[in-house]
Amino acid sequence: MNGGIVFVTRRIPEPGLAALRGNGANVRIGQPLDSEPVPRAALIEGARSADALLCMLTERIDREVLEASPRLRGIANYAVGFDNIDVGLATELGIPVSNTPGVLTEATADFTFALLLACARRIPEADRYTRESRFRIWGPTLLLGADVGPGPDGRRKTLGIVGYGRIGRAVARRARGFDMEVLASDPVPVDDGDVRFVPLPELLARSDFVTIHAELTPATRHFIGAPELRRMRRSAFLINAARGPIVDESALVRALREGWIAGAGLDVYENEPALADGLASLPNVVLAPHTASATVDTRARMATIAATNTIAHLRGERAPDCVNPEVYQGEAWGRRVK
Ligand code: DGY
Repeated sequence: MNGGIVFVTRRIPEPGLAALRGNGANVRIGQPLDSEPVPRAALIEGARSADALLCMLTERIDREVLEASPRLRGIANYAVGFDNIDVGLATELGIPVSNTPGVLTEATADFTFALLLACARRIPEADRYTRESRFRIWGPTLLLGADVGPGPDGRRKTLGIVGYGRIGRAVARRARGFDMEVLASDPVPVDDGDVRFVPLPELLARSDFVTIHAELTPATRHFIGAPELRRMRRSAFLINAARGPIVDESALVRALREGWIAGAGLDVYENEPALADGLASLPNVVLAPHTASATVDTRARMATIAATNTIAHLRGERAPDCVNPEVYQGEAWGRRVK
């Protein structure tokens, strides 16, 4: 297909838009503002009249959208996670779905460590304290935090990684720099040097820091709930830069309030952008607005990857990052691209 209409739900970085236009696509942008969602009606109408959809993790691409979009030759999600899309139904309807794997691994691992250090060393509190002119004199017990490296007694801290894929591995690499002992829990253990795979209950009980890097699936929804939080050490910290619903956020608020754990660093939330009642007023949690992959270069590269996949979708070619490649065997896809 030469050209074709691409509905880009929200404005993406320019290199992606330039790549689409440079390949002759007629680009329609649903929401030019970065801080606003695309209205649901505009999303449905935009997808209905498009040959390809380039969407964000903030949009639910469900039966209502998919069944109303007879022309769609493919969907490119501007994210590595694709739990916002009903991929099973897309496959049935002959619609390939792609994501942006790999490119945000390092940025997300950096941010995971930033959250970990921010919680342990109370960086946001220290920043507020200093800005508010409360810093009058150096104090022996001012803003005491927890060691991340071995500390004065030489005890190496333990990092527990839940979900050991690309990002989990990148976090483990950083942990080696802090001389941490690394435990991991994953349904598919891999051989990765000194990383020891243990069952989740053991990982929770032994870790000083627990960090989540699993995908959101029906099996991982509320994977970390009250029983798991109670299993963690009272001195431990929980980090989540994966997907919010993996953690039962109300249980986490209780855990933080009642001291079951020492603190948490969160980039993602169960009902994003809403926060569970009480979360924002807790002193022992560091909060970020789902920005773990937000570096200039990463977001630009995500845009060009999504554009490359979109162009393949439009042309009826196999998309390089298709997450449902079985779709290409089906007649439904053949009918869409003929
Ligand atoms: C993703 O790509 O899934 C990330 O959550 C975006 O930051």
